[in-house]
Amino acid sequence: MSGNKAVAYKAPGIVEIIDTPFPTFELQAGPGVNPVNVGRKVPHGVILRTVSTNICGSDQHMVRGRTTAPAGLVLGHEITGEVIETGPDVEFIKVGDIVSVPFNISCGRCRNCKEGKTGICLNVNPDRPGSAYGYVDMGGWVGGQAEYVLVPYADWNLLRFPDRDQALEKIMDLTMLSDILPTGFHGAVTAGVGVGSTVYVAGAGPVGLAAAASAQLLGAAVVIVGDLNEDRLAQARSFGCETVNVTMGDPADQIEQLLGVREVDAGIDAVGFEARGHGAGAQEAPAAVLNSLMDLTAAGGSLGIPGLYVTGDPGAADAAAQKGSLSLSLGTGWAKSLSFATGQCPVMKYNRQLMMAILHDRIQIAKAVNATAISLQDAPRGYAEFDAGAATKYVLDPNGYLSN
Ligand SMILES: NC(=O)c1ccc[n+]([C@@H]2O[C@H](COP(=O)([O-])OP(=O)(O)OC[C@H]3O[C@@H](n4cnc5c(N)ncnc54)[C@H](O)[C@@H]3O)[C@@H](O)[C@H]2O)c1
Ligand SMILES: [Zn+2]
Ligand SMILES: [Zn+2]
Repeated sequence: MSGNKAVAYKAPGIVEIIDTPFPTFELQAGPGVNPVNVGRKVPHGVILRTVSTNICGSDQHMVRGRTTAPAGLVLGHEITGEVIETGPDVEFIKVGDIVSVPFNISCGRCRNCKEGKTGICLNVNPDRPGSAYGYVDMGGWVGGQAEYVLVPYADWNLLRFPDRDQALEKIMDLTMLSDILPTGFHGAVTAGVGVGSTVYVAGAGPVGLAAAASAQLLGAAVVIVGDLNEDRLAQARSFGCETVNVTMGDPADQIEQLLGVREVDAGIDAVGFEARGHGAGAQEAPAAVLNSLMDLTAAGGSLGIPGLYVTGDPGAADAAAQKGSLSLSLGTGWAKSLSFATGQCPVMKYNRQLMMAILHDRIQIAKAVNATAISLQDAPRGYAEFDAGAATKYVLDPNGYLSN
C-alpha cells in the first residue's frame, strides 16, 4: 500500500484533500511534527483503516486561523477504525478489530496516565503535557481525517467494540465516543450534574448538545441550552431541552423565566474562547461565557469547562486576549465558592461506559447532534457548512463503511 488521502489545513478558511504517505511505525517529519518526535519508533502502534472520522469545533479554531497551526497539517482527532496492521509490541488488539480512538494520545506509563489523567500525558508531546492527533502544538501525531492512520500505544489507547456487525450498525452513535460524547459527559460530571439537577449549557454546538444529552442521562431535572444560533437551539429542543437565545440578553433573565430563580445548580461552558457577548449584535467577548456562568451558577456549585481556551490567539481583538489573558470576574466565583474543571476530557475515563449506554439504547447521541455522513472528498463543504453554523455533526466516510 502506498497512498493515503487526507484532509489538510491550507490557510484560514481553507482545507483541501491531499495525498500523504501511508503510515509507518515511525514518526516522520511533516507540517506540525515536533522535531523531537521525528524518528520516534512506534512498535506499540497499529495502523487503522478509518471507518469514520468527525469534524469538530476544535478543528474550526485552527481552520479559522485562530491558532498557530502550520499549512499542510493533516487534521482529524475523532477517529474510529478497523485494525489492518499491528506493530510487533502489540499484544491484545488484533487485525480486524473495530475500535474507537480516544482523541487524547497517552502512553499508559507516566504518572498522569496512571492516575487516569490521559488528557495530560507526560510522554507523548515534547512541548507540553497532553496530546492529540492532527492538532497544533500536540506533538505532531498525524491526523485521522484520512483513509489510514497510526495509533500509538494501541493496547492502552484503543476501545474495542465487542461485535463487528453491531458496531457497524450503530456506528453513527459510536463514532461520537472518540471525543464529543465523553467530552460532553465530562462537562456534566465535573459540573456536578446528578438526579434532579438544574443545568445550564452554554453552546448548542455538538459538544453542548452532547453535554445536554449527558446531563439527561445523569438524571438532570431541567437542561437549559443557550446559543445565538436558532437552528442549533431547535436541535436542542428536539430531544427535550429548554433553550435560551443569548441575543436576547443575559441568559440569567431567561433562566429566571423558566425556573423562577436566576440560578442553576450546574453550569457548563461548551463554547470556549471564541465566545460572543450577550444581547443583539454582540461582538466576540472571550470571557463572556465564563463570567455569565459564575453569575448564574448557585453558590457552592461547579463549572464544567470543556470549551477550549488557548495560550495564544493571533485573531483576538485585544492584546491581552492575543496572549490568552481574559478579563474574568473571578471575585464573583470566589465569593460563591465555585469550582472550575478545565482541560482536555480524559476520554478513557468514560468511553467504555458510554459505549454500553449506546449499545443498550440509553442515549441517542447521533440523533441529538444530527450526525450526518459525507465523503472525505466533501470535507471542505462540511467544514464550510459547520463554520456557517449548521446544526449538524459531520462524519467523514473515507473508506465507504458508512455508505454500505
Ligand atoms: N475539552 C475538550 O476535551 C474538548 C473536546 C472537544 C471540543 N472542545 C471544545 O468545545 C467547544 C465546543 O465545541 P463544538 O464542536 O460544539 O463547537 P462549535 O463551534 O460548533 O459550538 C460552539 C457554539 O457556541 C455558540 N456560542 C458562541 N457564543 C456563545 C455564548 N455567549 N453563549 C452561548 N453559546 C455561544 C456558537 O454559536 C456555537 O454554536 C470548542 O471550544 C471546542 O474546541 C473541547
Ligand atoms: Zn473533537
Ligand atoms: Zn502518559
